[in-house]
Amino acid sequence: MHGGTYSIVERASIVEERGRVVSVGPGGAPDEHTVNAHGALVTPALIDCHTHLVFAGNRAREFEMRLNGATYEDIARGGGGILSTVKATRAASEAQLTASALARLDAMLSEGVGTVEVKSGYGLDVESELKCLRVARSLARDRPVTIVTTLLGAHTVPPEFKGRADDYVTLLCEELIPRAAREQLADGVDAFCEGIGFSPAQTRRVFESARTHGLRVRLHADQLSNLGGAALAAEFGALSADHLEHTDDAGAQALARAGTVAVLLPGAFYFLRETKKPPVDALRRHGVAMAVATDCNPGTSPNTSILTAMNMACTLLGLTPEEALAGATTHAARALGLEDRGVLAPGRRADYVLWDAEEPAELAWTIAGRKPRRIERATG
Ligand code: NIG
Ligand code: FE
Repeated sequence: MHGGTYSIVERASIVEERGRVVSVGPGGAPDEHTVNAHGALVTPALIDCHTHLVFAGNRAREFEMRLNGATYEDIARGGGGILSTVKATRAASEAQLTASALARLDAMLSEGVGTVEVKSGYGLDVESELKCLRVARSLARDRPVTIVTTLLGAHTVPPEFKGRADDYVTLLCEELIPRAAREQLADGVDAFCEGIGFSPAQTRRVFESARTHGLRVRLHADQLSNLGGAALAAEFGALSADHLEHTDDAGAQALARAGTVAVLLPGAFYFLRETKKPPVDALRRHGVAMAVATDCNPGTSPNTSILTAMNMACTLLGLTPEEALAGATTHAARALGLEDRGVLAPGRRADYVLWDAEEPAELAWTIAGRKPRRIERATG
């Protein structure tokens, strides 16, 4: 067995101009503008391509209930779960939501993350969902980070629509998605296709509305059961299909054909103490790009650390450290449809991170506590 190659360039220097990489190569004559990296490992800024960063309250009590024998689905069907966070999030002001999201974002940035996808999904009425998206957008004004926003109105059926899921989907398709698109608050649309979420037929309606309004889609697919979510995402040319614990070989093949990225979320797998793993071998065999993200959320992955998610992707799901690093850089960029980042190459953004590491495998090797030596962010 051998380690990966990581496409490493030894003793390289990076030349940049106006926030873009001009060249990456060995040697180069230092001048007064040169920053000597003193042999540090340099990677592109990390990308967390799946988070639910904007929420209020916590779910510690439900964590306790689960450890006393209740299942995640029991709690959800009993009106807790996502809905308990919806209650707290509806009651919170934009300023309160911004403050708590910034605290979580700062933890992410301290590990060298430069791009974060942020979903709504804890508002579940038109005004509350737009409120959460505005908060998400505002984070990029407060911190040096790129925020990609996703409307996850189809996260679960809100209490006022209990027993009328189809009517709620109509509200999403006819009011929320059009407004989020018109007000440029959402860069994409997501849905939770699951027994405790939305059926494939309902998800299809959401995706059709997204398409009508010019928004790309992604999907919480096959997390707790196989409803054919991966194939459905692929059919709509989704940028990503996420979770995928119950995806079968045909689903993996569909993702490959569509060029949809598989986003693995080992934090949720760990926190829900799942035993069914996503089909990593099939994804590899069919050539599906695999990304890794924190899924930072109060119910299934209260974790802000992308490095810990990379470690878990290796220890729990069997990725190699090289795959985990690609999962938080180049493949994560693809999952967000961003072509200007995720690798250090001419023309890409000059966002990079210097690590005190001798081996690139060190980034996924440590469980917690690692911080970069220095973070360089593109300006201009
Ligand atoms: O990515 N699966 C659905 N959505 C989230 C969890 C949301 C919650 O429990 O609050 C997830 O796991
Ligand atoms: Fe999620």
